[in-house]
Formats: sequence, structure tokens, C-alpha cells
Amino acid sequence: MEMAKITINGQAVSVPAGTTILQAARQAKIDIPTLCDHPALRPAGSCRICVVEVKGQRVLQTACTFPITGGMEILTESPRVVGARKLILDLLFSERNHYCPYCEMSGSCELQSLGYRYGINHWVYPTYLNPFPVDASHRYLLMEHNRCVLCGRCFRACGELVANHTLGLRQRGARSMIHADLGLPWGESTCVSCGTCAQVCPTGTLIDKRSAYMGRNAQMRYVESACSQCSVGCGMKIVTRSDSVLRLEGDWDTKVSGGLLCQKGRFAPLYDGRERVLRPLVRRNGRQEAAGWEEALRVAAEGLSGRKGDLGVLASSNATTEALYLTGRLFKETLKASRIGLLNPAVSEALGKPKGSLADLAGSDLILLAGADPLQDQPVVAFLIKRAVDGGARLVLVDGESNGLAPFASMTLAMDGLDQAVQMAERAANPVVLYGAAVPDGAAGMLKRLQKKAAFIALEPGVNTRAAKAFGLAGTLQPAGIKALYLLLGEEAGEGAELAERIDKDAFVVVQSCFASPLTRRADVVLPMAIWSERSGSLTNTEGRTLKVQHAVDPAGEAKPDWEILALLAERLGMKVGASLEDVAASLRK
Ligand code: SF4
Ligand code: SF4
Ligand code: SF4
Ligand code: FES
Repeated sequence: MEMAKITINGQAVSVPAGTTILQAARQAKIDIPTLCDHPALRPAGSCRICVVEVKGQRVLQTACTFPITGGMEILTESPRVVGARKLILDLLFSERNHYCPYCEMSGSCELQSLGYRYGINHWVYPTYLNPFPVDASHRYLLMEHNRCVLCGRCFRACGELVANHTLGLRQRGARSMIHADLGLPWGESTCVSCGTCAQVCPTGTLIDKRSAYMGRNAQMRYVESACSQCSVGCGMKIVTRSDSVLRLEGDWDTKVSGGLLCQKGRFAPLYDGRERVLRPLVRRNGRQEAAGWEEALRVAAEGLSGRKGDLGVLASSNATTEALYLTGRLFKETLKASRIGLLNPAVSEALGKPKGSLADLAGSDLILLAGADPLQDQPVVAFLIKRAVDGGARLVLVDGESNGLAPFASMTLAMDGLDQAVQMAERAANPVVLYGAAVPDGAAGMLKRLQKKAAFIALEPGVNTRAAKAFGLAGTLQPAGIKALYLLLGEEAGEGAELAERIDKDAFVVVQSCFASPLTRRADVVLPMAIWSERSGSLTNTEGRTLKVQHAVDPAGEAKPDWEILALLAERLGMKVGASLEDVAASLRK
């Protein structure tokens, strides 16, 4: 790699040739202000706030786009540079309504911070306040055009990162406006509610409705965690204030998703209106009644012990790895349960451990997607696939006629056309195979022909299925004939009415759940469980990465984290695992 020696403000810096001035300055810990630039987006060079002086150049240059060559002498805060930045800010503040005290982003706005940095304390130019409309038609977001500085981050994110291309720019000059689908109300557009545009917007234009006016960034706590709504496990930050979750933000530094979240990860968990189970319940004389944890665990332990052949356990894969590990050990090893099942379907094991990662999609020229609908089940994977298609990759769908990605596919085949898809992948340079639970064992065998050539990614329909399988929790379970049944439901979305019907009338049933359902109503003992934001632990995502989930707020009511309930129950049943998450994790590592 050819290195270029330069100076920035007289400081010697050595960087690879071709690096932008902005990247070189950041490497040297020299701060150049930016507005249209965002680390996750390609440089656009449109706002010009990052201009710098480059010796020998006739005009100021935008640091975010200008490439370094050896010998350059750069000044980032010279009087000429500062004057130019002030002019740009004076012009930006004179357009539209940047009256900060009334803006939801005041205190967290990048334009406002630049105003303070360069001493913009009055209007130099006449302001014009032709009011622009406010679009409040979106369920989760608000578009306040009067605060927009036309930096373009939002529509670049919608196109470059999400590959959804909903947002764009219409009109010209001072009348320019962001729009959704050439002027549709945002809530009626093709927007898939990923929220990425709002996260990158530097001003108070694209606003999260739920957390608006709930406080400044400095008053909030940011807890690094991973989304536990599907098997991708996108990195995210849980933003809280006063033990309340205000919003969720994608973590730009995560390797899993590079900052992307989808509607089911970013918004749906905060709009979940299901009734929580908040205290333990025990059935007494045929009626469910509130009980303390001691009594509920004692009744559960008595009802489950000594059952062996009559005992069954059915777990949801949305539990943490620690909870699934304890479930496997307690029910398989200690209680010798005869019937063990997983609530969620799982991908075929015929292909062994898949060797590939979602990052492989970026360099792929052919994507073979079989037996999965990521737009529905793992939306961020769908965004990455659409990005690859935008970059020239061909998408071949197998068993995907009603697949959400069908409009982006070069070819859609039935499962019996898999051979043709495999032949196409054999001819490609960098094929990637994504396969889901709808690929039967026989067809999976056919995909094996690509194992030397392609990257393979299994798309597990459940959240933590890879961990569940590792602890022997797999397959379906028919509850008929079982006399004692433990249901680790967690946050399972299904109402469970049909399963409740199939449980024997005289069976003893313990349900560990976050939400009330026909199954909790059927239970003899209900153990209230903490939801995603109230628990810590780990998950294994669909690529096989271990991800940490962090508790951000205290559990509601008397609920406890999934692993803790199982550890307490295990202790009463004679299994020693310790009382803390660290104890359980240490036991798991052994
Ligand atoms: S809406 Fe926000 S991100 Fe989009 S152009 Fe306006 S200020 Fe920039
Ligand atoms: S929420 Fe997502 S899909 Fe909708 S406009 Fe914003 S970036 Fe595009
Ligand atoms: S793709 Fe899955 S893990 Fe990522 S944000 Fe969406 S639901 Fe969460
Ligand atoms: S940040 Fe460089 S031109 Fe906008």
C-alpha cells in the first residue's frame, strides 16, 4: 500500500494514498466539522461545511471527498476556512425555521452544534419562513420539512443502506424538499419503517414520534445490546431515561448489521400492547391465584420431579443461550424428560455448520435464496440482499413465489427447480447460498454441490435456534399423553390456543412467559418472565456469532430474567448452577 506523507495544521501525518482528507484528519485526531457526511454513507460533498485549505489549490476543497496525495499541506481552521464555514452556516440558518428552542432536536442537533462552534448568534441575512408542510402520516416518524438542510443523508441512507429508494428530493433551489415516492404521504409510501433515515438525519426534520420531546441526548442512557426479535441479532443501543425505554438505535459499529435495524427490531417491541404476566400464579382448587416466587417454584418443582417418561418440555428459541442451556441440562440430564421440543421450526442439519457470513453478500454476483422469506422474517438480511442486487448481483429465488423479494429476483423457481438454480450458482464467480427451514433434507443435499464454491448462510426462523439445537432442544412435540409439561414460552408471539387444546386435561403444566395467553390460562403454575429490554445474557445469531444482550430497565412487576427462573427451579430440583448470570455462563463454558 502506497503511503502518502502530508501535514495537517503543521502536524505530520502518514496515510494510504487516496484516503480522504477527512479520514486522514480523523486518524490524526484533528476535528473537521461535517454535516452531509456520515460514516455509514458514501461521501457526497454537498454541504461544504468541511471545506479546508489545500496549499496549491485555487479554491477551498471539501475534506470528505478530496483524496490525499503525497506532500499535501492542509489547513483545517485557517481564517479563510472559518470565514467560509460561517458563511455557509449563516445561509443555512437563514433558510427555513431553525429557531432552536422549539425544536425537538435542540441540544442534540448537529446544525445547532455547528452554530455554537462558529459563534452564529444572530441572523446576518434576511430569513424567509415560507412554511413547508409537516408530514405526520407515518405511524412511527414525523417529517418536519421546515428544519431540513437538504444534506441528503436520509435519501442516501434509504437508497445506499436499506436499498428501499423511498426517499428522494423534489423541486429545485430554495423550494427543494425531501419526498417519499414522488410526493406520496410518507405513511402511504413504500417505506418499510426501518427508521434508518431518521437515525442519520442531523437536524430535527425526521423525528421519532414516540421519543420526541422526551429529553436531550445528555439526559439519556445508551445501553449496547442486540436485537432479539429474529435470528440476525442486529447490534443496537437501547435509549432509556428514568427506567423507561424511549427508542432503539442501530449500532453503527456492529459487525452483524452495520447499524441497520428493521421495523420489527426498532419499533414493534416498543408498540407491543400485549398483556404482561407480572406476578407468579398458582392454581389452587381449580382457580389461578397470585402467589409468591417461593410457593410458585416449590409447586412447580413438586409437579415436575419424578415424572421421567411422563415429562415433556417445549422451549421457544427466543430465550437466551443461558436459559436454553439450563433448560437442556435440567430437563434432559436431571429430570430425564422423555419428550423434548422446540416451538420454532429450524433449518435442515443436512448441510452441517454453514460457513459464511452476511458480509459475503456484498461481494456476491449471484445469491441463491431457498426456502426463506427474509423480508418477512429477517428484514435486515433482505436489505443486504437488495443492496447486493443494486450492486449487480443476480437473485435466484427457490420456493419463493409469494416471497417479498420476488420483485428483485432475476429468476423464481419452485423447489423442484433447485437443480437449475444450483447450476447457475456453479457458473457464478462468488455465489452466496441462503437457505431457510422450508428447504427439505433432500433438497439441502443438492445444495451440497456448492459447498466448495459458495458461502452458505442458514436463515433460522427462530431467534436463538442455533443455541437451542446445541443443547438438544429441537424437533416438534405432541403434547398428547404428557402428564407434566414445562413450556418456556418467553415472548413467543403465537397465542398458543391450539397448543393449549392439545394438552391432556389432567396434565400438570408450568408456563414461563412474558405475556398472558391461552397457555398461561391453562397453566397450573405461571412464572412471569422479563422481556428483551429487562434481561441480560447471550444469543447465538444465525451466522453463529455470540452476541450479548444487556438489560436496560428493571423487569416489570415481579418478572425475572429467563435464565434466573430456570436457575431457581433447577436449584429446587437438586441441580447446582449458581445464582448469578456469571455462574451460569461459567458452567456453560465448562
Ligand atoms: S431530512 Fe434530515 S437528513 Fe434528510 S436532507 Fe433534511 S436534514 Fe438532511
Ligand atoms: S424508514 Fe427506512 S424505508 Fe422508510 S424512508 Fe426511512 S430509510 Fe427509507
Ligand atoms: S433483522 Fe432481526 S435482528 Fe435485525 S433489527 Fe430486524 S428483527 Fe431485529
Ligand atoms: S461534510 Fe463534506 S461536504 Fe458535507
